Amino acid sequence: MTVTILTLFPGLFEGFLTSSILARAIQRGLVTVKLVDIRGYAKDKHRVCDDAAYGGGPGMVMKAEPIAAALEANGAGEAGGRRVVYLTPAGRLYTQALAAELSREEDLVMLCGRYEGVDQRVIDAFVTDEISIGDYVLSGGEVAAMVMVDSMARLVPGVITGDSLEEESFASGLLEYPHYTRPEVFRGASVPEVLLSGHHENIRRWRLRKSVEKTMRFRPELLASDSLPVEARELFGKMREEGVGDERNQGA
Ligand code: 6GU
Repeated sequence: MTVTILTLFPGLFEGFLTSSILARAIQRGLVTVKLVDIRGYAKDKHRVCDDAAYGGGPGMVMKAEPIAAALEANGAGEAGGRRVVYLTPAGRLYTQALAAELSREEDLVMLCGRYEGVDQRVIDAFVTDEISIGDYVLSGGEVAAMVMVDSMARLVPGVITGDSLEEESFASGLLEYPHYTRPEVFRGASVPEVLLSGHHENIRRWRLRKSVEKTMRFRPELLASDSLPVEARELFGKMREEGVGDERNQGA
């Protein structure tokens, strides 16, 4: 997939694009990221990209013309074209399901907002998706764009190999179980016995139980999902009967 990112701060992406899994995916040609500096499309001498809001109020608004010019120069104005995502805290919530959907796009454009946001007429004319990554406010869409690119890239076939994708949190609708590696005893704390047993079925069941426990504690609403695997649902029912996670059993 190719992602074209329009931003006033392309430098923010440097370390992100040159490290770890994403750098490898780019190097292998599985993912292409194009950074477009919106300021390069401002026509005036000082390359001004923001201005005061009509109607008054604090803060500045990103001007329409430089963004429109940047989008058109990068093929986002054409009919039947690509999805254009605008990163804004006022958008719909980003989820793993949306990451999976967007990771199947051949060509995606992302517009990073700054200040109070961008002129509404640019959104009306170009944007297909307004997306927020969560209920908190960032200084701009850049960090949110990185969150999205990271989560989409790892779903592009070939970027992550083996079974690790299926094992992850949310893939199963549950939070992930705890992990351990050497040494066997760390500052007096031992690795749970079952993980040393070599008994694969017992290990699998222990991990599922830990996943359900963790989900009950931090994200109980996930356990109400219709798509929860049958075994997880049954185990959850049993654990609730046993009183796992009840107040009186906490810290016991
Ligand atoms: Cl996409 N942008 C900004 N500025 N803040 C956010 C966000 C996006 N998602 C959550 N908070």
